[in-house]
Amino acid sequence: MRIALGSDHGGIELRKEILNYLNLKGYEVKDFGTHTAESCDYPDYALPVAEAVANKEFDFGILVCGTGIGIGIAANKVPGIRAALCSDTFSAHATREHNDANILTLGQRVVGVGLALDIVKTFLDSKFEGDRHQGRINKIAEIEKKYNK
Ligand code: RB5
Repeated sequence: MRIALGSDHGGIELRKEILNYLNLKGYEVKDFGTHTAESCDYPDYALPVAEAVANKEFDFGILVCGTGIGIGIAANKVPGIRAALCSDTFSAHATREHNDANILTLGQRVVGVGLALDIVKTFLDSKFEGDRHQGRINKIAEIEKKYNK
């Protein structure tokens, strides 16, 4: 499974922990940075990760900022992206099963490392259930089409 990883300065420490975890577990990972603690803009890291996932270069993306909110809002502007902010493991499996989320976002200032890694594991181990949920996702795609004419 190929994973694209990114964060702004507000998510850099948690991103490093996630990178170590994914490497240990044998995932194929590309780290899109940021690589310094200097203040930067989360859309600059959301965009390349979201594009790489939307283009199917990667199966999933994981994005981290201070709250997980800004970087997720930015990622969701890319057509085909369903980025989900999760701060608990129930949401992490539900968003895969029901929303077929393709990007997980996390807030470094919100969740501790232990919980964050459980959320990552749960998200990556869970599968989309299809069926009635597929129709709802198709409707999301219709909304994208309506506004991207
Ligand atoms: C950066 O200070 C912070 O605003 C950012 O990491 C994120 O929390 C935005 O949603």
